[in-house]
Amino acid sequence: MCGIVGYVGEREALPIILESLKRIEYRGYDSCGVFVLLEDGNPKLHKDAGTIDHLKKNLSESEYRGNVAIGHTRWATHGEPSKRNAHPHLDGKGEIAVVHNGIIENYQHIKEELLNQGYEFVSETDTEVIPHLINLSLKKFNWQLKEAVREALARLKGSYAIIVAEKGFEGLVAARNESPLIIGVGDRENFIASDVPAVLEQTNRVIYLEEGDLAVVKKDSIYIENGGVEVRREERLIPWTIEDAEKGGYEHFMLKEIHEEPRAIMDTLRGYLAEDRINLGFELEGNAKGKSILMVACGTSYYATLCGKQIIENLARVPVQVELASEFNYSDFVLDGTNIIAMAITQSGETADTLMALKKAKRYGSKTVAITNVLGSSATRIADETIYTGAGPEIGVAATKSFVAQLVIFYLLGLSLAKMPESEFRGYLEELRGMPKIAQIVLDEEDTNIQRHARYLSKYEHAFFVGRGVNLPIALEGALKLKEISYIHAEGYAAGELKHGPFALLTEDTPVVAILTRQPLGKFDQQPFKKSLIKNATQASQNIYEKTLGNVKEIKARGSPVIAIAEEGDEEVEKYVDAVIRVPETSTIFSPIPNTVALHLLAYWTAKERGCEIDKPRNLAKSVTVE
Ligand code: G6P
Repeated sequence: MCGIVGYVGEREALPIILESLKRIEYRGYDSCGVFVLLEDGNPKLHKDAGTIDHLKKNLSESEYRGNVAIGHTRWATHGEPSKRNAHPHLDGKGEIAVVHNGIIENYQHIKEELLNQGYEFVSETDTEVIPHLINLSLKKFNWQLKEAVREALARLKGSYAIIVAEKGFEGLVAARNESPLIIGVGDRENFIASDVPAVLEQTNRVIYLEEGDLAVVKKDSIYIENGGVEVRREERLIPWTIEDAEKGGYEHFMLKEIHEEPRAIMDTLRGYLAEDRINLGFELEGNAKGKSILMVACGTSYYATLCGKQIIENLARVPVQVELASEFNYSDFVLDGTNIIAMAITQSGETADTLMALKKAKRYGSKTVAITNVLGSSATRIADETIYTGAGPEIGVAATKSFVAQLVIFYLLGLSLAKMPESEFRGYLEELRGMPKIAQIVLDEEDTNIQRHARYLSKYEHAFFVGRGVNLPIALEGALKLKEISYIHAEGYAAGELKHGPFALLTEDTPVVAILTRQPLGKFDQQPFKKSLIKNATQASQNIYEKTLGNVKEIKARGSPVIAIAEEGDEEVEKYVDAVIRVPETSTIFSPIPNTVALHLLAYWTAKERGCEIDKPRNLAKSVTVE
């Protein structure tokens, strides 16, 4: 949700700024801009509506030679996406430039005050008050930029990560409050950015700024203070490589990231599995004793969490309540927080609603856990404990590999809390360890088939996705993925619910994707470790399969085309549907993994067929740092 970057050093700043912006364009891409302090001491600004590539086309880089610069890529909050509203924003003299990610809630009030003092505004943004406020304070503080920024920030309410450049100042001032900001540490040069991928090509030494930090970054020094007092922040080594954050020969990040799903599963498992023991890095069992789990999340992470609820409840018989973070924040907390372990599930670790929910649970006395993909992200600093997904950097706006990595964490949580015979536990672990291979089989064997079905699906404007049980959240995820990148209106539904309304919409123009995987009868019999559960589990999954098949027949009777996701060897299904996507057999509880891979591919190829901007779907951003 807006990306900001800064550079100070001995190299040409502009190419570095443009490259860094490009790498975090997933944070917003409706407009962008750069501000460079030229070699002759004068500042130069260039901004425009549109993407970084568009900006570059009209930018004569040779006119922007200088060693200090800032840049911004925007996801509009206040004011339409336009050149006028694009960042950086300047003070009246054009000497102070600010890039900002976040929302200044009291900007209207400050703006009126500044207007009364004769300041002129050229944009509709909340951000523009910041350079004017800094300008106002500069005189008072004898032109000391750091002090002026500190005073200006004291006036602001809301969230911000900002970088400030000023004519004549051989460095940058940066500050954060509720929006992420990092410093990349170089050799006689330093970088500032919203996200790690922006600096990875230059350095993997990173300092995470904390709430309320203000930093003065020069080419050979980094000074950080909080509340006016100097503080030390640890430098961390980021394990990601630049190759992780590049397309590696794939046309889109999303396709690359879907192909990385087997690795994401493997790397996540590797972090917590040693021999036949799960070690999540903290004592979960003791903490969870007698408690229930509350999980909060947004978007794709929310659907993974809905699936996680079923996984954990099924394996461990521990009650799990799942809440959309944005709703939880404004609802009454009627539970006793001290009896709850609250978990925030967030790929980025920066989603504003999720962070708020985590803080709320903490206020109510809950033990808090962040499940995130990003080292050092805000969620990790709020929560008592952190469990990392090992998905590696995810750049495509539509989350894919992070979703399967989150599922893996839920299996590990469920198994850690489960009370089951050792042999049964080992059986589950064995099957879990086989999941990278299962995901790979879908990628290797079904991709071409899925492309064919995607060509077919791409001709429609509406679609339904149905599933039951542990695969209902996967149907929701399949629909979300399709709608966000292909712009086909898609809805995920519980298979049994379609007849309570959506049936009115079913025609030959509304295809339905049905998840029809099952636990084939007899499979449990071959696995003695599951004997205690054989009867119930087999019965339940068989029922789910049969009931869903029944729903599919009802759907077909209304004329809708049906694409089924079904297990290899299930010939029955072919009698009732128009097309089948095959996935390998697994136990029901693990079936979300291959089903997800198949649905992610289906969404990708459908969007590709429709010529959509896959990695940057319209109006979306990867990391939503505003409420
Ligand atoms: C945005 C992204 C989604 C993501 C959601 C939650 O909407 O476009 O892909 O699922 O935020 O993000 P988080 O980082 O908290 O998982």
